Amino acid sequence: TGRFIVGGNWKCNGTRESVKALVEALNKNVPNIEKNCDIYCCPTFLHLPYVKDNLNERFNVCAQNSWVEADLVDPEHHYDSTTGAFTGEISAEMLEDLQVPFVLLGHSERRTLLGDTDEIVGKKVAHARYHGLSVVVCVGETLEERENGTTFDVIFKQLKAVAKEIDDREHSSWGSSVVIAYEPIWAIGTGKVATPEQVQEVHSKIRSWLAENVSEDVAKATRIQYGGSVNASNCADLAKLSDIDGFLVGGASLNGDDFAAICNASS
Ligand code: 13P
Repeated sequence: TGRFIVGGNWKCNGTRESVKALVEALNKNVPNIEKNCDIYCCPTFLHLPYVKDNLNERFNVCAQNSWVEADLVDPEHHYDSTTGAFTGEISAEMLEDLQVPFVLLGHSERRTLLGDTDEIVGKKVAHARYHGLSVVVCVGETLEERENGTTFDVIFKQLKAVAKEIDDREHSSWGSSVVIAYEPIWAIGTGKVATPEQVQEVHSKIRSWLAENVSEDVAKATRIQYGGSVNASNCADLAKLSDIDGFLVGGASLNGDDFAAICNASS
């Protein structure tokens, strides 16, 4: 549907030296400007300012997370400042101040290892949108959930928590500013990429869910990325699917040549 969008999630990787080398490799492989593709790279918070200052501007930078208070339950207070006495956290206000245009929220590693519930992810999305950040919100099921037939219950519940937090005023800008990344957990870092049929089925159901529960316009405009063992050799077949609007890449995004090839996969 929309403009193709490819993200590189660097996760908790990098030394000053390796980040410098990766930035240099990416700068030597700047994807074709005429390719209709938005690109973002997600270094750690520590490396973010260096990457923003040194990476070719064909690439956007993206934070891997931002903070919001878990017990911020009063809808009146969703947009209160989250800057303050929260040791060790980074707020959306800080990302806005640094002119970081994107933030990744609800990655499965944060959901499963670091306590990001559906509700917290919804609040983080609304709060980041309020501060003008474009958001990539990750959804996806475990192998067990896929096998016991609850894939769509899980994904729709994750989407509902986001839709609930973004009010009507925000829905008008949802399409271009909220990207959904479908990342089946069993495909992340396993080398076991979902089949084109599996990806197409989930993406089209996410789109129908958005049409029924948010709006037709949002459903049409929302870009849905696939993530999970995407690499330079399997990206071309996946990119052909009608409901795939891009990729979210982990391991292969740490290699400049591979990442450029994936960015150039859009037709
Ligand atoms: P891999 O590409 O390493 O499977 O990771 C996917 C991912 O989690 C991107 O956010």
